Amino acid sequence: GGIKDYEKRLVHARKIIFVACGTSWHAALTGKYFIEELSGIPVEVEYASEFRYRSPVVDDRDVVIGISQSGETADTLGALEYAKEKGATILGICNVVGSSLARLTDAGVYTHAGPEISVASTKAFTTQLSVLLLLAARLGELTGITKTEERKQFLSELVSLPDSIGSILEKTEHIQEIAKALAKKEDVFFLGRNVCFPVALEGALKMKEISYIHAEGYPSGEMKHGPLALIESGTPAVFVSSGERQKEKLLSNIEEVSARGAEIVVVAGKNFNSSIGTTLSIPETHDLLVPVTATIVLQLLSYYVAVERGTDVDMPRNLAKSVTVE
Ligand code: M6R
Repeated sequence: GGIKDYEKRLVHARKIIFVACGTSWHAALTGKYFIEELSGIPVEVEYASEFRYRSPVVDDRDVVIGISQSGETADTLGALEYAKEKGATILGICNVVGSSLARLTDAGVYTHAGPEISVASTKAFTTQLSVLLLLAARLGELTGITKTEERKQFLSELVSLPDSIGSILEKTEHIQEIAKALAKKEDVFFLGRNVCFPVALEGALKMKEISYIHAEGYPSGEMKHGPLALIESGTPAVFVSSGERQKEKLLSNIEEVSARGAEIVVVAGKNFNSSIGTTLSIPETHDLLVPVTATIVLQLLSYYVAVERGTDVDMPRNLAKSVTVE
C-alpha cells in the first residue's frame, strides 16, 4: 500500500536500483531475483557505501529503493540523498516507523517486524524478503509477466509461511547436532544458486557475526573458479537448495566439493534427495519462498554454534546495531 502512488513510476522505470548495507543488501540481492523474474523490470543492487562515492549512472528515469531495518544507516541515507540530487524517485523499505530513511524517501513500505534489539539482523531480513516478494508479485501483475494462476498460488503459499517457519522452530534437534560439530571448525562455506545464492551470503554473515567463525558465501557455480582450492578434508560446506531450480547443477556442485573432502550439509526440501552429506529439511514450498525458510535454518545454525562456543549472541564484539557513522 505504501507505494501505491508510485506503481507507474516503478513499472516504467529504466531500472530499479536497490541501495543497502549488510543483511539488508542480501535482501536487496534476493529482491533482484524476485523482481526480474516476476516482472521483467531490470534491477541493480548496490552497496550504499560504494554507490555514493563512485559515478553511478542514475537520473530521473530511475527508481532508487533504500532497504534498511533501522532507517538510520549513514551510508544508505547518503546513497539515497545522492540519488535524490540526481533526480531519481527514492523509495524505502524500512522497519522503524518515522526513521530518517522514512522521512527522506518519497514513499515506502514498512516491514513491521517489531523492534529488533540484537545486533544480528534476523526477523528484519525475513520480513524484508516478504515485502520484496509482495512487491515483485505486484509488479509482475502490472507488467503482465507473471501468470495470474502462478501468482495466486505463490501468494497463497506466502500466507502460510508462518506455519512452515513454525514447523522448523519446533524441531531443531538436528540443527543443534550439526551445530555442535561446526562449532569446532574455524572455516565454513555457504553455497547456493539462484535465489539461494543471497541466502548463502546471509548464512555466512550470520555465522561470522555471532560465532566468529570465518565463513564464506559463494554462488556454488563459482567454486571451481578459485575457492575450491580452500577445500580440504573436513572443511564444512553448507549448501542451500532452491528447490527444483538448477537442482542437477547444485547436485553436481555438491559432488565437486565433496570429492575434495568437504563435510557436506544440505538445507533442502524432502524432494531434493542428496545422497551426499547430511540434510537439514525445510518444508516444501514454492521455490521463491525457499529463501525465507532456508534462512531460518541458517539463523538457527549460527545461533546454536554461537551458544556452543559461548560467544555473545546478542551483542557480538566490535559491532553496533545501527551504523550511523561512515
Ligand atoms: O539497519 P540496516 O538494515 O540499515 O543495517 C544494515 C547493516 O548494518 C545490518 O544489516 C548488519 O549487517 C547486521 N548486523 C547483520 O546482521
